[in-house]
Amino acid sequence: MKSIKKSLLGLALAGTIGQIFIAGAAVGGELYTFKDGKLDRPTGYREWVFVGTPLTPNDMNNGKAAFPEFHNVYIDRKSWDQWKEKGTFRDGAIMVKELIDVGSKAAPSGKGYFEGDFIGLEATIKSKKLFPKEPGNWAYFSFSTPDHKALTDTATAFPTAACNACHDASAADDFVFTQYYPVLRAGKGKGKDATGGTLSDLTAK
Ligand code: HEC
Repeated sequence: MKSIKKSLLGLALAGTIGQIFIAGAAVGGELYTFKDGKLDRPTGYREWVFVGTPLTPNDMNNGKAAFPEFHNVYIDRKSWDQWKEKGTFRDGAIMVKELIDVGSKAAPSGKGYFEGDFIGLEATIKSKKLFPKEPGNWAYFSFSTPDHKALTDTATAFPTAACNACHDASAADDFVFTQYYPVLRAGKGKGKDATGGTLSDLTAK
């Protein structure tokens, strides 16, 4: 009996220590693994903060949008915290855009574009340490296969001219297209008012 109690206590302790360790790792470390020039496919991003859904449907882009079609864009929570407090993107920020095809063009609510299936994943990371030579220290990655039917396990950063240059030239805030993300626009430096529902004014300034 005593030994059962002891081993139960041991298990409980091991569980607690495990939890502390996992919590510590999540707080201290970044949400991505980059080694030997390769970024592991990010995970867990559907539980990050959702910032907006740009849409480039194939049928408005000669049948072949560069990023088909809906883009569900997320930012990691640590970066969101800094964004709503200071209005800046922290070093170590990661954003992902998950691609979803147009599944249907009619719904009980009317004609339109409605999200179908997941068809790709892109990511960008801001890191002085990892990407000292990239303008703004932002590097860009794609995990989409050319046929958009699967995801790769790792990705290497695109050359600056392929992605970074357009973000540099046209994005509204740092290298991020906040002009298309109402959640970021409305939440910049707003603290509690960034979280929604606290203001009657709907204008995202
Ligand atoms: C010609 C301009 C242009 C190029 C080139 C470009 N992007 Fe973007 N990117 C955009 C625009 C505009 C948005 C926001 C609207 C959207 O998603 O359609 C965006 C958004 C993103 C986002 C979401 C976060 C953010 O910064 O707004 C990621 C991730 C991204 N692009 C990855 C890439 C990758 C990877 C490449 C290179 C393969 C690339 N982009 C090349 C224009 C560009």
